[in-house]
Amino acid sequence: MIQVNCCLIGFDETQDMYICICQAVSDSAIRKAVDEGVRSFRDLSEVTGCGTQCGSCVKMAREVLDKALEDAGSPKSTVQLEVVSSG
Ligand code: FES
Repeated sequence: MIQVNCCLIGFDETQDMYICICQAVSDSAIRKAVDEGVRSFRDLSEVTGCGTQCGSCVKMAREVLDKALEDAGSPKSTVQLEVVSSG
């Protein structure tokens, strides 16, 4: 059974849950992506499309990704910011 992330009250962790509605990416798909080598949110977006439309899933997707990375023994994903000089 698949649940939608807006229905977290009473969420059963044994059931699959959509994290990204726009791209139909579930929490198990994120964990599977980590098992297959995804180590950053950028990688996850490229592989699954997660977060590439409306973006409302990004916070939760990052949380699921970080937990999956932690469970896999990898460090949390990081956001790398690049400072661009305007002058
Ligand atoms: S819910 Fe993920 S991009 Fe819209």
